[in-house]
Amino acid sequence: MNDFLERELKEYYRKTPKARKYYQTACRYLPGGTTRTLSFFQPYPLFIERGRGCKIYDVDGNERIDFFNNATSLILGHANPAVVKAVRERAKLGTAFHAPTMHEVELARLLCERIPSVERVRFMNSGTEAAMMAIRAAKAFTGKNKIGKMEGGYHGSADHAYVSVHPDLTQAGPADSPRSLSDSMGISSGTLSEVVVMPFNDAEAVERIVKREKDNLACIIVEPMMGAAGIIPARKGFLQDLRRITRENDVLLIFDEVQTFRHSWGGAQEMHGVLPDLTALAKIIGGGFPSGAVGGKADIMSVFDSSGGHAKVPHGGTFNGNPVTMAAGLATMKQLTRKSFAHLSRLGDELRRGLTDLFVRYGYKARVTGETSFFKVHFTDQEVVDYRSARKGVNNEEERKIFFHLLNRGIFLESQIKGCLSVPMGRAEIHALLGAMEDYLKGQKSFPG
Ligand SMILES: Cc1ncc(COP(=O)(O)O)c(C=O)c1O
Repeated sequence: MNDFLERELKEYYRKTPKARKYYQTACRYLPGGTTRTLSFFQPYPLFIERGRGCKIYDVDGNERIDFFNNATSLILGHANPAVVKAVRERAKLGTAFHAPTMHEVELARLLCERIPSVERVRFMNSGTEAAMMAIRAAKAFTGKNKIGKMEGGYHGSADHAYVSVHPDLTQAGPADSPRSLSDSMGISSGTLSEVVVMPFNDAEAVERIVKREKDNLACIIVEPMMGAAGIIPARKGFLQDLRRITRENDVLLIFDEVQTFRHSWGGAQEMHGVLPDLTALAKIIGGGFPSGAVGGKADIMSVFDSSGGHAKVPHGGTFNGNPVTMAAGLATMKQLTRKSFAHLSRLGDELRRGLTDLFVRYGYKARVTGETSFFKVHFTDQEVVDYRSARKGVNNEEERKIFFHLLNRGIFLESQIKGCLSVPMGRAEIHALLGAMEDYLKGQKSFPG
């Protein structure tokens, strides 16, 4: 193992003895000691005791600035006082009923007022479910059975979504017409044959594929900025092209705004001025509680209407529109003003620029992608525009060295060196991250070629 990494890991062990013990106990009851694939890292994850604002505190008493905010879901940071108050007040009155409360109507109204394409909302409990139900609604509305998704696009772990998320490029076929490959055992070949995979940021290729498949293609689901694939923004005009291509070929366009609803007051669709037919939401709309929603035009959303006895797409859910989640979501969304989003974008620009300047100054081969409050470091000097170009910038050893170096210096981000900001952050937090990164660069004897 690289000496630098060995030293950082030793320091991590020294700082986190309780987490190590807790993890050993966890392994007795949870497969692999975890219940969440994406938050786990080797040799064992931190166990967190509490969070406040943009800081988290682990069970070993270490304080860190949280640059991942529970996978982008906590836009106001931790334990926001108004959210805590709303949850406490709601919980005192009861937490769940086999009947609606006005909270769900109020949050639905707020989302309809903010998101340009959304006229009706259906609540559920995760982004996985939101993407899955948006896809099913599109199939029901169009009567077609195939779905289009981008290579590397992440829409949670339901069957159709979990195709070509991290495909092996030796198996994935040509870049302009990728094969659909399963990312998990247990996904049937029937499902694979219903998923048409497309390259992100390549409108010409998408148009060719859509023209070929249009008779069977119900929808294209796309993240307006690819998240899991590497925080890759859409090229100028790409989303507009998708809108034109889908409209011309009678295919519905679904924006998965589970992450990008962080982009602005009305999400990425408002920022780009492109209106999809359906939108999948989750994360920030639940104010820190499990949440999800599908929104869209009234005629399409009517597939969920069960008031006449039977919906075209029946959709139960014991905790749909749960009043605690709805109260937390409302308390969160009401605090998010246009100024909050401008603040996040300004800080995001400063961070991305600062990281890029450092890499140039030290001659370190890396690129920073992202927009608004998102950022990611790729270990390449090539432009990153899609899943395949992002793969060229993967360097597991550099990721681990930087991740543990930052972790040991009070900076928590996602282990692939990506993250996002929260409203309570200011320039001090940005400079703390930049300082720790500069310290890393100074500490290297040589850089990878
Ligand atoms: C774009 C996108 N869609 C869907 C999901 C799934 O959301 P959840 O983890 O709430 O199921 C995620 C989660 O990170 C996501 O980033």
